[in-house]
Amino acid sequence: MAQIELENVTKRFGNTTAVKNLSIQIQDQEFFALLGPTGAGKTTTLRCIAGLEKPEQGNIHIDQQNVTHWGPAERDVALVFQYYSLYPHYTVRQNLEFPLKSKIRKTTPAQIKQKVSEVARTLQIDHLLDRKTDKLSGGEMQRVAIGRAIVRDPKIFLMDEPLSNLDAKLREGLRAELKGLQMNLGATFLYVTHDQVEAMTMGERIGVLKKGELVQIGTPYDVYNNPVNTYVATFVGTPTMNLFQGFIEKKRVCIQKELFEFELDPPTLQHLDGFAGEITVGIRPEDLSASQTHGLEGRIYGIENMGMGKIVTLNIGDHLLKISADAKQEAQIDAPFRFQLKQEKLHFFNTETGENLLKKS
Ligand SMILES: Nc1ncnc2c1ncn2[C@@H]1O[C@H](COP(=O)(O)OP(=O)(O)OP(=O)(O)O)[C@@H](O)[C@H]1O
Ligand SMILES: [Mg+2]
Repeated sequence: MAQIELENVTKRFGNTTAVKNLSIQIQDQEFFALLGPTGAGKTTTLRCIAGLEKPEQGNIHIDQQNVTHWGPAERDVALVFQYYSLYPHYTVRQNLEFPLKSKIRKTTPAQIKQKVSEVARTLQIDHLLDRKTDKLSGGEMQRVAIGRAIVRDPKIFLMDEPLSNLDAKLREGLRAELKGLQMNLGATFLYVTHDQVEAMTMGERIGVLKKGELVQIGTPYDVYNNPVNTYVATFVGTPTMNLFQGFIEKKRVCIQKELFEFELDPPTLQHLDGFAGEITVGIRPEDLSASQTHGLEGRIYGIENMGMGKIVTLNIGDHLLKISADAKQEAQIDAPFRFQLKQEKLHFFNTETGENLLKKS
């Protein structure tokens, strides 16, 4: 069993509050992704769990034991960093052996040999065992760094943007491998990233951080479809959700000073729970579709071909709106473009607070 529980954890550096009153419970064998932009407090959170930083307030439990005052060595967690942190003049084998050679462990040379070859096989680095680590590619180095974490058989893996220095193709491959590894090891993973695609594709649950505070916690589906506020709504998803200013009055919504206006349907009205006044309306690019005959019209401002589809940017009024369109969709700069939106796909936010107004259960 390896649960992690953070209970009202606060960590300050001088006047900066890096982590503020953070409470998260990570289940045994869960793959939990902690997502946030630079400076959000992700690394600090990991370092607190690993015992490398001491929080000013709050408690950290691992397996229901309060480890807040324990040292790093006692916590049995493995850390993998963004930078490979390998010993450059040693071979891959020596790097993998190193964590097992600690005197406290009393692992025999035969056991070490066995474990190293097992790990090397798992990570497909067995052909590299006798090579110096400074003669490896980035992807290979990161595999060795992960291998160094695995050899000790820890119950908890803390990973700090381990793939962010790799090229896109390698990153994609290693994402799947890490996910597979986590399942095979039956370990608990806390995976920190600023890359929402990584969090969405790997995390069973995602925690979104903003300036040291937890803004939302949920499955990738929840976070994407029911973002708690405009911060989460625009942070998750590419291309970004379109946002427009508008207001609701007498069961009607008017977007961007009469740019478009329509009557709200009963389910939306029910979710809005009587709200009237200024709002921010969010529309995801994939929730808009091209239409031949009716709908709203804009003029094409930009076209990005993505292979699988294309992103068409429209100018409507003085505003830009992005639509995910079919790859075969005809589109020319400056040509008129009709589109439709589905009301049930709209997001409504309080303009002042950014908070999602739809009270969906
Ligand atoms: N040792 C330190 N001394 C002073 N301030 C620090 C220290 N470590 C972190 N901070 C500050 O705490 C805040 C959170 O930093 P942290 O490194 O946890 O962010 P992060 O989410 O990991 O960012 P990044 O994505 O850039 O790695 C930042 O404002 C940072 O400047
Ligand atoms: Mg960091």
